[in-house]
Amino acid sequence: MKLWSGRFAKDTDALVNELNASISFDQRLYREDIQGSLAHARMLGDCGVISAEDAAAIREGLQGILRDIEAGKVEFTADNEDIHMNVEALLTARIGDAGKRLHTARSRNDQVALDFRMYVRGQIPVIVEQLLELERVLCKQARRYQSAVMPGYTHLQRAQPISFAQHLMAYAQMFARDVTRLEDCGKRLNQCPLGSGALAGTTYPIDRFQTAAALGFDAPMGNSLDGVSDRDYALELLSDLSILMMHLSRFAEEVILWCSWEFKFIELDDAYATGSSIMPQKKNPDVAELVRGKTGRVYGDLMGLLTVMKGLPLAYNKDMQEDKEPVFDAIDTVEMCLPVFARMLDTMTVRADNMRAAAGRGFINATDCADYLTKKGMAFRDAYTVTGRLVAECAAREKTLEELTLAELRAVSDLFGEDVFEALKLENCMALRGSFGGPAVLETARQIEEMERFADARGT
Ligand code: ARG
Repeated sequence: MKLWSGRFAKDTDALVNELNASISFDQRLYREDIQGSLAHARMLGDCGVISAEDAAAIREGLQGILRDIEAGKVEFTADNEDIHMNVEALLTARIGDAGKRLHTARSRNDQVALDFRMYVRGQIPVIVEQLLELERVLCKQARRYQSAVMPGYTHLQRAQPISFAQHLMAYAQMFARDVTRLEDCGKRLNQCPLGSGALAGTTYPIDRFQTAAALGFDAPMGNSLDGVSDRDYALELLSDLSILMMHLSRFAEEVILWCSWEFKFIELDDAYATGSSIMPQKKNPDVAELVRGKTGRVYGDLMGLLTVMKGLPLAYNKDMQEDKEPVFDAIDTVEMCLPVFARMLDTMTVRADNMRAAAGRGFINATDCADYLTKKGMAFRDAYTVTGRLVAECAAREKTLEELTLAELRAVSDLFGEDVFEALKLENCMALRGSFGGPAVLETARQIEEMERFADARGT
């Protein structure tokens, strides 16, 4: 029999039960549900809404249920719809009448809002720690390749010389922002909806500040309708995870490119690559491809929940039961992708020789050539045009800029002197890019140190 069967003359149709029940997925919230109920029961007892004996019996009963769930001894039933009513029904079956008093001054609407909020809050540090582990791997690899010259790209065309460390640290900065974005989400969501009731608060003399503090919130939410209505914290998490996956997916794309024969900048460890069922030579970057592919899922989770919430009148609507699966899916996806991606990067072999060879073709020191002339007194725009002419000439003769003779260079400008060959050396071009945030070794070292401090300050 349903907990709410009082006003009904008929049983629910079996198909409705199937549609309505959420226990198959919201059982994941059992711990938060019981924690919330423990705090609620204590507060009801303290405020004299229920007797101290009932409060104690409820708390003891709930603790027993929690133990039994964790020990795998509890079977939930779709007859009780969701985790909230499953726990309540179990409690009443175990402790009798006192169990029936637990739901005083509470609704499933504020209960689910609380449970879900606590669940999201609890996952943030898990994902942050995984991001920090990824940061540590990036710093470790970057430390090794601070002077490894590689071509930096724009439009996937070789552009200017950078180091492999500088490239890795660009991602490190993105993931650091992902960390702080998640931390922001955690701060903003930390207000307690419990005590909002169904929508309109309650006539009982409850103490929302007590339950908020007991459950680790900064304060109770300030409006009871808002408390049960909004899922912005879940959307914020999904947005943050979508951005995180976008970063990871770009990185994945580069890993895929880098381990192609066309680049061969890296080789993946055998444990982080897969083979083909027909082509014996193949070693495929499936990890990176799956991370790139799963980014689509996480975007879908965000779009799904945004669409569920769009146009819902206040306050609670059952549509909102659809909030959980996309959030669980996005969290599971991210928590699966991050550690394996970090391990893949940690174990890869870097082919600095191939990076250096690639840097040698494509005129990535052309800007430096123009800068050389500019520093000798030519206006940059003129220097740019002169260098462009030299590049065209070199391209036609299949030469690099530094392979031209001084005479050939002086034919276009007499500002060229013997020192131009030093200025065109790729190692020097990179080393001289010492502007703040640039690829010069000292600058990249500063970035690495800063990032190590960032991770240490938060790490467990
Ligand atoms: N299982 C429901 C959910 O996930 C709990 C809240 C139900 N409230 C209600 N008034 N039917 O949203």
